[in-house]
Amino acid sequence: MAYAVASHVENVRDGQGAISGNRSRGRGHEVYRSLAQVYIHSVMMVSFVLTLLLSLWRRFRKTLVRMGLVFPDEEVYLLNRSPKESARLNAQHDFLVNLIGGRPIHPAIPTEDITDVADIATGTGIWLMSLAAALNASPTNRLYLHGFDISATQYPFSKDISPSHELHLSVHDMRHRFLPEHRGRYDLIHLRLLVGALKEEDYARSMRNIYELLKPGGYLQWDDCDTTAFSTAESSPDPFIRRMQETVASAAVNLGLCPTAPLLIEKLATMVGFEDVTRQSYNTIDKPHLHDAARGWLVQVLRSLLPKSMLGTGEVTEESVAIERTERLVGELESHCQNVLPVVNLHVVVGRKPLS
Ligand SMILES: C[S@@+](CC[C@H](N)C(=O)[O-])C[C@H]1O[C@@H](n2cnc3c(N)ncnc32)[C@H](O)[C@@H]1O
Repeated sequence: MAYAVASHVENVRDGQGAISGNRSRGRGHEVYRSLAQVYIHSVMMVSFVLTLLLSLWRRFRKTLVRMGLVFPDEEVYLLNRSPKESARLNAQHDFLVNLIGGRPIHPAIPTEDITDVADIATGTGIWLMSLAAALNASPTNRLYLHGFDISATQYPFSKDISPSHELHLSVHDMRHRFLPEHRGRYDLIHLRLLVGALKEEDYARSMRNIYELLKPGGYLQWDDCDTTAFSTAESSPDPFIRRMQETVASAAVNLGLCPTAPLLIEKLATMVGFEDVTRQSYNTIDKPHLHDAARGWLVQVLRSLLPKSMLGTGEVTEESVAIERTERLVGELESHCQNVLPVVNLHVVVGRKPLS
């Protein structure tokens, strides 16, 4: 092709095309046509190479995401996944379980026949790990426990096999369907604290994917809070805490998160087909034995939430500044908290997949 174009150009230059005006114009057109073809072929070749490179990059990135080395696109997670944050998630587990009555599985869910349980957005897997004791796992009542999370960064291991249970932790983004071997497998699906992680627009498809995982008659338990999760018992809310609440709430809106997650979860659970859907709200006001824990939780959760919230509202643009400002605010908050009664709220939505 290049040769053909070159010889056409050569011919035109040599004046051979000047014998007749028509012939010369005809050759000129041919040259342009050939040049156009060369151009089109080059563009096609370049776009083919670019598409190939892009798909290779996407595959490579997917592998990195699966390994937990990078975060998936469009992630809006308000927290981080540092070892400190993992320790905070583990430490808050007992507090959250005590807040909802002392057992990781809600009392509305019968536990006698539960053997297969999945925890979605499992974080460090702490909730699943507490089940072996809660469900009296034994070699004759062996549990299959599976934790899924969009990132493996906080996993302490990928599997833990013992005579009484097997626990697997794997990477999966709940916005996509789960692998066929997981569909229809579980007696109970649990989720907790997605309010700072899932965009409002993603709840519906996530709920459909969760529904698919359950056996007929299986249960959903979703523990979550809204952006009023922390407040104070005083009649006029402490202005300092209110300001922090507003920062988190407006970041949630800016990032497309759902400030009223429990209500949406309850509504969607009914819409996808769960029956006997209930939403129960728990708070620390009437539990004096949890007041100190609530104080500690509030300080720690704000320390984790505020940096990304400040970035989310545009209040600051650099992470280091956000962290520095957070530390200052949290220091002040700690002294404020001594004079007020912090209140922590958590809602539990329970639903059952119909038997047929
Ligand atoms: C606040 S942590 C809660 C962890 C755990 N449920 C607990 O209560 O300890 C939220 C978790 O949701 C995970 N997550 C966020 N988006 C997700 C998604 N689309 N699919 C699966 N997990 C997701 C995050 O990686 C994080 O581990």
